[in-house]
Amino acid sequence: MSSREQWSSRQGFILATIGAAVGLGNIWRFSYVAGENGGAAFLFLYLLCVLLVGLPIVIAELALGRRAQGDAVAAFEEAGDGSVWRYAGWIGVFGAIAILSYYAVIAGWALKYFVGAATGALWTTAAEGYGSYFKTFIANTGEPIAWHAAMLAAAVYVVAGGVRKGIEVVNRWLMPILAMIIIALALFALSLPGSGAGVRFLFSPDWSVLAKPEVYVAALGQAFFSLGVGMAVFLTYGSYMPRNFRLPTSAVAIAVGDALFAIVAGVAIFPAVFALGIDPTAGPELAFITLPQVFLQMPGGALAGAVFFFLLSAAALTSMVSLLEVPVAMAVRRLKCQRWKATGLIGAIILVLGIPSALSFGVLAHIKIGRHGILDAIDAGVSNFLLPITAILIALYVGWRLDKAIALSESELGEGKLGVCWHWLLRALVPMAIVAILLQSASVL
Ligand code: PFF
Repeated sequence: MSSREQWSSRQGFILATIGAAVGLGNIWRFSYVAGENGGAAFLFLYLLCVLLVGLPIVIAELALGRRAQGDAVAAFEEAGDGSVWRYAGWIGVFGAIAILSYYAVIAGWALKYFVGAATGALWTTAAEGYGSYFKTFIANTGEPIAWHAAMLAAAVYVVAGGVRKGIEVVNRWLMPILAMIIIALALFALSLPGSGAGVRFLFSPDWSVLAKPEVYVAALGQAFFSLGVGMAVFLTYGSYMPRNFRLPTSAVAIAVGDALFAIVAGVAIFPAVFALGIDPTAGPELAFITLPQVFLQMPGGALAGAVFFFLLSAAALTSMVSLLEVPVAMAVRRLKCQRWKATGLIGAIILVLGIPSALSFGVLAHIKIGRHGILDAIDAGVSNFLLPITAILIALYVGWRLDKAIALSESELGEGKLGVCWHWLLRALVPMAIVAILLQSASVL
């Protein structure tokens, strides 16, 4: 397997993994989940989940992936044919496809808003209000599918280019630009009169919200989704990682980069929302209904809005690329398919699978799975069940099934305190936290 591609540099690898982690989750999802769950106290819990649950799994995924030098299923191959552990790899691949099918739809909304903001069309619809603008758009039949297809085509183009020439190059360019954009937007938001209330919402905790069990579920769910663990992305990206990259520092860079991005996005969003006296608990609509209204009302808002929706679309693209690479790596390895063919075919399958989500606010709005429409049901199913289940399997596999000495040496944490602490987190705290969350999610079904 010496012909297997590898990242060209440590920096390129880190930017690609941060690109996988930073996405709609940090901007669109973080802002509304933090808004709904009380702001600062939620932020504190979320950071705790990233550190104690998310980071250990990122390390485990990278270590397993690098050791296997294969795809998501190969990471568990050592467990032997027919072993139940191997399903973890398959669930990861299946989950990546399922996420991508609806994630691309939301990314398509972001792209539509970016094009609208850049051409000015988004700013002339104020009269009808963004609530009806957004609802009319997503209730459409052709448009959401077309934007979904456009985002998928972009992801296919990047992944077909290969690990170095496609994925790494795009992330090297986009990630520094996105970091600068989010910082600039945050500074701009802070300069608005009345922004202090938003800063307080995000940083001065009201601990009473910690009495609600849903807040814990939301914090752990957000940590998982935002980091992108449990979907075999880091298993796959880790498999292109040469031996001489320091694994623990890379994992810390991913976790810190991802959390910082979410916090700075919060600083860009909440001060603006509060400065204009808008309710922060709008839910998933926050980015698409509340924010355009905010941009419309603020000086320089048309430019800030265009830049914001560019950020949202580009951040979504780099995460889509990482999700697409999971099944592509698998097809290339197992079916000996050429990369561009595999990418095109899988892209086409995801395009079709995403159509019900794209239509779930329009012609298919009557279809409900439990309480949810199609897109929301897939999101809830994946984020609340599939993702935690794969994460728990990875934690248990590395914690209990894999030889301890191998786990410690592959993770490069060694036999010292750090290594032992990581190993125990995987053995006990991580699985317990995940089971608690699964039970809680099941109880609210
Ligand atoms: N981490 C991405 C985000 O925050 O938008 C979403 C994501 C990417 C989830 C990759 C899962 C994944 F495997």
